[in-house]
Amino acid sequence: MRNILITGGAGFIGSHVVKLFVKKYPDYKIVNLDKLTYAGNLENLRDIESYPNYTFIKGDICDIEKNKEIFTKYKIDSVVHLAAESHVDRSISNPFEFAQTNIIGTLVLLNQAKESWGKDFNNKLFYHISTDEVYGSLGETGLFKEDTPYDPKSPYSAAKASSDHFVRAFNNTYRLPIVISNCSNNYGPYQFPEKLIPLFINNIKNHKPLPVYGKGENIRDWLYVEDHASAIDIVFHEGKIGETYNIGGFNEWKNIDVIKVLCKVMDKKLNRESGQSEKLITFVKDRAGHDMRYAIDSTKISKELGWKPSLQFEEGIEKTVDWYLANKKWLNNVISGDYLEYYNKQYNLR
Ligand code: NAD
Ligand code: DAU
Repeated sequence: MRNILITGGAGFIGSHVVKLFVKKYPDYKIVNLDKLTYAGNLENLRDIESYPNYTFIKGDICDIEKNKEIFTKYKIDSVVHLAAESHVDRSISNPFEFAQTNIIGTLVLLNQAKESWGKDFNNKLFYHISTDEVYGSLGETGLFKEDTPYDPKSPYSAAKASSDHFVRAFNNTYRLPIVISNCSNNYGPYQFPEKLIPLFINNIKNHKPLPVYGKGENIRDWLYVEDHASAIDIVFHEGKIGETYNIGGFNEWKNIDVIKVLCKVMDKKLNRESGQSEKLITFVKDRAGHDMRYAIDSTKISKELGWKPSLQFEEGIEKTVDWYLANKKWLNNVISGDYLEYYNKQYNLR
């Protein structure tokens, strides 16, 4: 029996985590606190919204009073904190919003947990979900390990790094029971089409140019979102208090190679002539301060907690493409209105 506050549960990863916990643990009470920014979407949660162990609350993690009310009313004993501004390009144009939600929001939650739990930290847990971007950018070799020094290079990763430091400081100073995981790039169903994979699926579908930053040589380590959710489940239940776990798939790809795989799969699924979609590839101005390479060493979580990813990349990509092609309504809803404004501004289309 647990009363768990999941923040950001209407977003991409959060919605997979909420669905996993609500279905797998009927005895747990799950409270999902989400501000429903452009990235939050209740459609992501339709299949569990009427489960008796699930409650949704629209609200801002920075709202001190709201947090206090939630902790008291629902007797919250654990937090799985995912709410964040998550897109690097948006952090370059609006860094303040990232500092507000990612740093101040995390601090408000930490403080509320400390206040509400008093000195009785027995069976309490504050689980903070973070990113591999806090470690900075790798050269041609090496992997991010849990003790790699922090070296964030974008406003997004600087804000996430700061939030990680606050979480560890609350453990060190007040003994708040915490655990942190830092994950590599996720992909899969319900990802907002501002991120590389869903953006390019949507553009290929609509015969629109595929804007590749720089030469497309940057490297990311891709993990299917349900594998991240299963890692979060394991860390939540088995992770050692005060520890950090890196999560990744040992699955490094150059952007241009990911894009070629996507083009091939899309040509096949849309019955287009082979090579059609690759013609849409357009090299554009690079992202400012673009990190060259991320790669996670996930030996610790695999050895100590027994987690490993379940899907090969090509299989995950095929599942993802199938999902976006089958869920036209979901996609059309999220790409109307504000999305067009963002897209035109980001890619200099006016
Ligand atoms: P997302 O942008 O899809 O979702 C973020 C969610 O947080 C949205 O539902 C949004 O409405 C909510 N939110 C934003 N500001 C809020 C606020 N002030 N109060 C309450 N809710 C708020 O993000 P995501 O990709 O699902 O990432 C979730 C978490 O995982 C983030 O903390 C991110 O840093 C981390 N992460 C993401 C990835 C990735 O590849 N996407 C990889 C590693 C770690
Ligand atoms: O590594 C984990 C991080 O992965 C998460 O913490 C972030 O929340 C998540 O957004 C992601 O960050 P990236 O910047 O790596 O993801 P994005 O999908 O924005 O970009 C992936 C790569 O593709 C990156 O090298 C930039 C490039 N790219 C992206 C877009 C949107 C392009 O070439 N063109 C594009 O239009």
